[in-house]
Amino acid sequence: MSEPKPIRFGAIGCGGMGTVRLQELAKHPLGVKIVAAVDINPDRLDNLAKVLGYNDFKRYTGPEDYKKLIDENDLDAVGVFTPHVPHYDHVKYALQKSLNVLCEKPMVCGAKNAIEITKLCNKQKKIGIVHYQRHFESKFMKARDLIKQGRIGKVKEFYIYMAQDWNGPTWRGIPELCGGGQINDSGSHYQDIILWMLDELPVSAEGFIDNYYRGKKLKVEANGSFNVELTNGITGRIIILSDYPGREIPYGSFFDEVRIIGEKGAIYFRGSKIFTYDFATRAEYEEPLTRPENYPDSPVDNFVKMLRKKVRINRVPFIFGSRVALFTEAMLRSGHEGGKKILCEKILKECGHKLEDLRNENI
Ligand SMILES: NC(=O)c1ccc[n+]([C@@H]2O[C@H](COP(=O)([O-])OP(=O)(O)OC[C@H]3O[C@@H](n4cnc5c(N)ncnc54)[C@H](O)[C@@H]3O)[C@@H](O)[C@H]2O)c1
Repeated sequence: MSEPKPIRFGAIGCGGMGTVRLQELAKHPLGVKIVAAVDINPDRLDNLAKVLGYNDFKRYTGPEDYKKLIDENDLDAVGVFTPHVPHYDHVKYALQKSLNVLCEKPMVCGAKNAIEITKLCNKQKKIGIVHYQRHFESKFMKARDLIKQGRIGKVKEFYIYMAQDWNGPTWRGIPELCGGGQINDSGSHYQDIILWMLDELPVSAEGFIDNYYRGKKLKVEANGSFNVELTNGITGRIIILSDYPGREIPYGSFFDEVRIIGEKGAIYFRGSKIFTYDFATRAEYEEPLTRPENYPDSPVDNFVKMLRKKVRINRVPFIFGSRVALFTEAMLRSGHEGGKKILCEKILKECGHKLEDLRNENI
């Protein structure tokens, strides 16, 4: 049988992470060809050609050229790897033109825009996947399974601490491009992962934000500590820090800790390992890390296998981007309103929705 034609892929934003994702796409055994790429910095396109080992893709360099890239290249799919705020324009145009979309996190900033994009994706019957790679990490997958099986009983509380030596480099330090500083950047992974593992929705957030990094004030939100509530009466503490001196220390730039407390026991992680603790027996177990057969390795793998109809389940559909956008918006609003408790239901009312609507992937 003859090989199927390669998937025709267009790249929007070919910086650090775009290049990594495009390399993974171009090497995928099911056949993906990067046929067009846009970046406002032409050096990034030269670098992409070097990394891919081919330069016969069509190049665009204007800030609005993503439209030409989409209109002129008979594409099957695009990847959006630009700064956070323009994700909205880039993803929307691609979906309007009936393309499948792989989008870097956070999908789209703000609940209203995120829900609009999720609905558009559903209406167009396209594949939209968010690059939240923790959905493919065995320890988090295991935690989700254990919680579903009731291993720690009904979940009551959780705690998340994430610290990264993050000073708002380049566009990340510009509010109009970053859309919420570190709370919306690396923080978004943790808003996502807790909602995914527990299979819950955010109810409220109440907390404080500051913009300091090593004594200097950034223009964007650098640090925050929040008391949050999820559905089913679960409460949690989320702490996101940028003011974490680490660059000077080998392997010192990033640290995280996630703990989940249930009625019968607890789940926590050390490195790539997952542990449970049973309150009755006071015994700790290191849980074996197993992967279900056919579970994709990454969002890129999931996306390509869906395009090729080799798997049917999208492990990070756009609805997760909407849930995270809502959660993050509540946290940011609270921080900006002096620690006032922000109800997610109120944000959703402004968007013409109810919390339960976000349970439905096909909103
Ligand atoms: N999943 C992860 O763990 C992870 C890690 C890092 C970054 N990211 C995400 O990847 C995305 C990009 O981040 P990055 O670190 O690669 O940043 P980056 O600055 O290295 O790349 C962004 C690129 O977009 C280009 N760009 C900006 N505006 C454009 C426009 N209008 N049209 C075309 N190109 C444009 C820039 O020139 C730049 O090359 C962000 O959403 C970020 O959060 C995800």
